[in-house]
Amino acid sequence: MRRILITGAAGQIGSELTPALRAAFGADNVLATDLRADLDKSCGGGPTAVLDCGDGQALAALVERHRADTIYHLAALLSAVAERRPQDAWRVNMGCLVTVLEVARQKGCAVFHPSSIGAFGPTTPRDRTPQDTIQRPTSMYGVTKVAGELLCDYYHLRYGVDVRGVRFPGIISNVAPPGGGTTDYAVDIYYQAVAHGRYTCYLKPGTFLDMMYMPDALRAAIEVMEADPKRLVHRNAFNVAAMSFAPEDIAAAIRKRLPDFTMDHTVDPVRQAIADSWPRSMDDSAARVEWGWKPRFDLEAMTDDMLRVLTERKRRGELRVG
Ligand code: SER
Repeated sequence: MRRILITGAAGQIGSELTPALRAAFGADNVLATDLRADLDKSCGGGPTAVLDCGDGQALAALVERHRADTIYHLAALLSAVAERRPQDAWRVNMGCLVTVLEVARQKGCAVFHPSSIGAFGPTTPRDRTPQDTIQRPTSMYGVTKVAGELLCDYYHLRYGVDVRGVRFPGIISNVAPPGGGTTDYAVDIYYQAVAHGRYTCYLKPGTFLDMMYMPDALRAAIEVMEADPKRLVHRNAFNVAAMSFAPEDIAAAIRKRLPDFTMDHTVDPVRQAIADSWPRSMDDSAARVEWGWKPRFDLEAMTDDMLRVLTERKRRGELRVG
């Protein structure tokens, strides 16, 4: 049975991956860590610790105390925040990653590291983006993601660290908000639709991006770590895809269920430029062949589920809209 330490456990992915890993491996086998002290509330039963994962000594001490053999390293700044604070983004996204990899090397841990569609750039083929292709991103987020992919490969090749990962598309979820990404609109639109029946989108119509519903993202993160290493030709940064849509497509899917819903656009040039430099859809055949990746949610199934959950939350008076 794995003994897991998660960094960034209170974030968008962590707050759902923590309970998923606890369900799969046993609550006591999963130590949730985050900078935030209110961690206990966000990740249910099981051990927690406040941790700055850039502090290698503190991380190593927790790995030892918990007898962790696997680190899910989720702490990172997303693309729009990274563009506002590029130096912080380098410090957090790269500094923490190298610290985690060093601790993993010294303590013999496996590592999961999420990369992103952000690892691609304007010279990358944008449709059916191949697994192995040009990666010259123009955002700081993208720079840290490509560098992170390479660093993970290096730690595997040089030191044999079992580090694996996927390139996540935009992730849509209804537990913790993403906070500071370019794809966040596809989360916010559901909250605003349920709360107010209208949404102002910061991306232009026609801006296609790859997206994925959280339950699929959680499965991808768990399944890639459980994959038979003998089948892996790639190791880090597997393209994983589920659906590709533009703002008007998600608005239309919502309108089918909430006919009065309306959307307009006030374009944010920073996030629009980032989105325009990312793939419209990724080819995830390497993940499908090498470890059996297959998404379960498309736009329709995701919209049914998001609206069901958020409507129920509104009925109970528990819908919090930013
Ligand atoms: N969802 C992320 C972002 O928009 C991309 O990985 O920054």
